[in-house]
Formats: sequence, structure tokens, C-alpha cells
Amino acid sequence: MADFVKIFKQYKKDGWAGAHLMYFEELDSTNLEAVRQSAQSAHGTVIVAESQTAGRGRRGRSWVSPAGENLYFSLLLKPEFVPEQAAMLTLVMALATARAIQTVSGCACQIKWPNDIVLHGKKVCGILTEMQVAGGRISHVVIGVGVNANQMVFDTENLRHASSIQKETGRAVEREALLVVLLSEFEKAYEEFCRSGSLETLRQEYESLLVNRGREVRILEPKGAWQGLAMGINEKGELLVQRADGTLEAVYAGEVSVRGLWDYV
Ligand code: BTN
Repeated sequence: MADFVKIFKQYKKDGWAGAHLMYFEELDSTNLEAVRQSAQSAHGTVIVAESQTAGRGRRGRSWVSPAGENLYFSLLLKPEFVPEQAAMLTLVMALATARAIQTVSGCACQIKWPNDIVLHGKKVCGILTEMQVAGGRISHVVIGVGVNANQMVFDTENLRHASSIQKETGRAVEREALLVVLLSEFEKAYEEFCRSGSLETLRQEYESLLVNRGREVRILEPKGAWQGLAMGINEKGELLVQRADGTLEAVYAGEVSVRGLWDYV
């Protein structure tokens, strides 16, 4: 058994998320593996890879995934709710990840809407949620999380805004402990989300961590760019942005990217 799994099992005492853990030295992408495993694997299965050769990011980007330093995993879910609600899971995972990074590193991090985790204004984690729907029902949802845990060197040309927890805090994080805490935080947030059927009860905490809140943002949509003041989120997880004329617009994550006026946040 790989050391990762042994240590993970020492920490993991209970809970359904990660009760079944599959560990791989190398995968193309943990999200792709989770899809391949979806028919025969249970709700809550977690796929971890030491490295990825074709890690996937949001909006068709790739996710650079070197071995030995970071955490790359996907959580397979088979929820009962309707497909429209699944998009919100990405914010639920962002909240759980922020809580876990805070607990394990002792450092307060923030969320850049919808789901980047930011430490000192640098991105230390990305989340990619993918879903399969058949006959109007969710077959499965895969939430993929890449945490830059201990990577110290980044390609400054392409990864200008990227950093790691260790680089920002000066302390290494134990990846297995981080994963156990993160999955436990996800369970709590997910159960709350399922109870209320929306982000309403998680919204206040999410907004308290929202790095964009009260800042001028630039919204990059396929049909063009515009800017306004980010106010918070609504119960569907959309970003509420006030235009210069005072009107409030709800921005859906989909193909949208949000930037600060001058930089990444
Ligand atoms: C983003 O663009 O910010 C999302 C990045 C998501 C990366 C993670 S790493 C584990 C999982 N497997 C993938 O191929 N992507 C996600």
C-alpha cells in the first residue's frame, strides 16, 4: 500500500467522503478516472493521483500537476437533486477547502469567486466540477480539486498568479491530513446544502471569505468584457455585480472569468 493511503487511513476515522479511496501514482486526470470509475463506484469515492499527465482546469485550461508536492483528487458524487443545483457544489467545495487549508496551515485564506482559493492574493487551489446527466437526472458529479500544497517553484511566465501553501506560509503541509480535514468539512457543508437545497445558509460564511467582495471586478464573458462592483453572491451562487448605472447583475460561473481591475484579484 502506498504511504499516502497508509497515512490517510491513520487520520481518517469516520465519514462517507473518502471512505473508499483509490490512489494512483500517475493518471491522465483524476476527474477522468472518476468518470471511468463512476458506474461501479459508490457516492463519496475519492480518486487521488500523485501526478497527472493531462490535469484539467476550468474553461479548457490545463492544470500543471508535478509529482510529490501537491494534492490532486476527485470526489465522485451521486446526488438526488436536480442538475441545476449541481453547479453550486463547486462553491460548497470551495468553502470546505478554505476551511481545511485554514485549519491545517493556520493561515486565513480567501475565495476568489467562484472557486479559486487564494493566499496573500495568489492562487493556491483550483476546483473543477463536471457532471453527467441522463434523462434529466444526474448520473454523477465529479468535483476535482488541485491544491498547490508544497510546490516551491512555478513557471513565472504561465503561472504568474500561482503559489502554494508552503510558499506563502513558510511551512510544509501534510497532504494526507489536509485531505482528511477537507473531506470532513465537505461532508458538513454538503449536508447543509442538501438540507436547505441552496447556498442560503452557507452564503454568509462564503461571502466573509470572498476576496472580490466590495472590489471593482472585470467580468470576462464570451460575448465581451464589462466591469462593476462585486457585492456578494445570491442563494444560487451567482456573483452579484453592480454596474456603473446602479443595476445589479447576477453573473453565472459557466464560461465567465472574473479579474480585479489591475491584477488577478
Ligand atoms: C481551475 O482551473 O482552477 C480548476 C483546476 C482543477 C484541477 C484539479 S487537479 C484534480 C482534478 N483533476 C483534474 O484533471 N482537474 C482537477
